[in-house]
Amino acid sequence: MKDFIASNKQRYLDELFDFLRIPSVSADSKHIPDMINAAEWVKDKLLAAGLDKAEVCPTEGHPIVFAEKIIDPSLPTILVYGHYDVQPADPVELWNSPPFEPTVVITPSHPQGAIFARGACDDKGQIYMHVKAIEAMILHNELTCNVKVMFEGEEEVGSENLGTFVKNNKEKLKADIILISDTSIIGNDIPSVETGLRGLAYMEVEVEAANRDLHSGVYGGAVANPINVLSQMIASMHDADGKITVKGFYDKVVELSQVERDELEAAPFDLEEYKKDLSIAEVTGEKGYTTRERAAIRPTLDVNGIWGGYTGEGSKTVLPSKAFAKISMRLVPDQDWEEISDLFMTHFKAIAPPTVKVSVKKHHGGQPYVTPTDSIGYKAAFMAMEESFDKKPVPTRGGGSIPIVALFEQELGLKSILFGFGLDSDALHSPNEHYGIFNFIKGIETIPLFYKHFRELSK
Ligand code: BES
Ligand code: MN
Ligand code: MN
Repeated sequence: MKDFIASNKQRYLDELFDFLRIPSVSADSKHIPDMINAAEWVKDKLLAAGLDKAEVCPTEGHPIVFAEKIIDPSLPTILVYGHYDVQPADPVELWNSPPFEPTVVITPSHPQGAIFARGACDDKGQIYMHVKAIEAMILHNELTCNVKVMFEGEEEVGSENLGTFVKNNKEKLKADIILISDTSIIGNDIPSVETGLRGLAYMEVEVEAANRDLHSGVYGGAVANPINVLSQMIASMHDADGKITVKGFYDKVVELSQVERDELEAAPFDLEEYKKDLSIAEVTGEKGYTTRERAAIRPTLDVNGIWGGYTGEGSKTVLPSKAFAKISMRLVPDQDWEEISDLFMTHFKAIAPPTVKVSVKKHHGGQPYVTPTDSIGYKAAFMAMEESFDKKPVPTRGGGSIPIVALFEQELGLKSILFGFGLDSDALHSPNEHYGIFNFIKGIETIPLFYKHFRELSK
C-alpha cells in the first residue's frame, strides 16, 4: 500500500491542484458557480475512487456531497466529514503566488515542499487525503469498514444548512464514528491527536451617537464620538489580569485538574520558536495560564473587525455618527454559545454610557467539544498515528472550532475523531496558506490504518 501511494504521488498532487484551482469561497455569493463546480468535481472523484453512490445534495445554501460504500452491514461504519469551501483569499496582494494557482515551495517546516493555495490545508488538501486513501483501500481490496462521506460547503460560514441536513437524514448518516481531518498535528516529527475543539459565539455591535456625522471642530469635545466610546467599551471587556469581564462569562467553565493540565503541557512546545514565527517580542493573555493553555483550554474574546468614520485617503475632520465591530468569543466546556451570546448582549448594553445607543446582533456559533481518550475511536486514531509515524502521538487540545461537531453528537449520538495532519503554522485563513506534501502523503498512508484498528477494536 505504501509503495502504491508513493508511486501515485504525482497523480494525487495533480488532482489536488485541479481541486485547489476552483475558488470555492463560501462567504462570497459571486462564487456560487464555483461552489457547485467544486461539489461536482469532488463527487466525480468519489465515484472514480470506487464508492458506490455519490450525490450532490442541494441545500438552501451551498450543496453537500454525500457518498457511501457499504461492504458488509455487519461491519463498523466510518462517516468521514470535511469541507470543500475555503476562506476568502484577501488580502490577495500579500500572497507570494496567486491563491488559486497552487505552487510548490520548499520552506523550513516543509523541506519536502508545501503546496501554496487557499484551502490547501483547510480543508481541501485534507479531505482529498480521504478520497485517495479510500481509493487505495478499494483498489487493494483492503477496505476494512463501511464508509460514508459527507463534505459540506459552508463550514467557513457557520454550517447552518448542514445542521438541517443532519437532522433530516439520521438514517442515511448512521455510522459508528465520525472521522475528521481538519485540525493540526504538533510537528511533522511529533504526531498528535486533538481531543477537543473550542466553541464559538460571534457577535456584531453598533454604537450610535449623534443622528448624523458632524464637524469635529464644531461639535468635537461636546458630543460623544462613537468610535472612542466603542474602543473604551471593548477595552473594558478585559481586566488587568486578562480575564473577560462579561458578567457570568466564566460561570460554566470547567477548570482542568492539575493532572490534565500537566498532561497537555507535556507536549513539546517552543515558546521562542512560536514568537519568532510570528515576529512578536512577547506573548500575552490570561494570568496564570501558559501560552498553549490560553490558546486551547481557556475562553477568549477578540475583535475581528472594527470600522466607522473616515478611512479614505488623506484626512477628513469628522465626528462619526456610528461605529461598528465584529466580536467573537472562543468557548470551552461547558459554556453554551447561545447563553454566552445573551450574556454578552446584556453586558454590552449595560456598559454603554447614556451618550450613545447600542445594538447587538448574534451571528452563528457552536458548542465546544471533547473526545474521550478512552473511546475506541480515539484509541484507533492513536494506534494509526503511532504505526505510521513510528512514534507515540501526543494528545492535544485545539484552539479552533468546527461548530458542527457538537451537533453531530447531539443529533447522531456519534463522537468525532479529530484526525488532522496540518500544522498550526500552515497559515490557515491567512495569505500564503500551504500544506506540506509530506503531510498530504502521510495522511493518505495513515487513514487506512485507522480503518484497520477501528475494525479490530470494534470486535
Ligand atoms: N479547520 C478549521 C478549524 C481548526 C483549525 C481547528 C486548526 C483546529 C486547528 C475550521 O475550518 C475553521 O476555520 N473553523 C472556524 C469556525 C467558524 C468559521 C464557524 C474557526 O475556528 O474560526
Ligand atoms: Mn477547516
Ligand atoms: Mn477554516
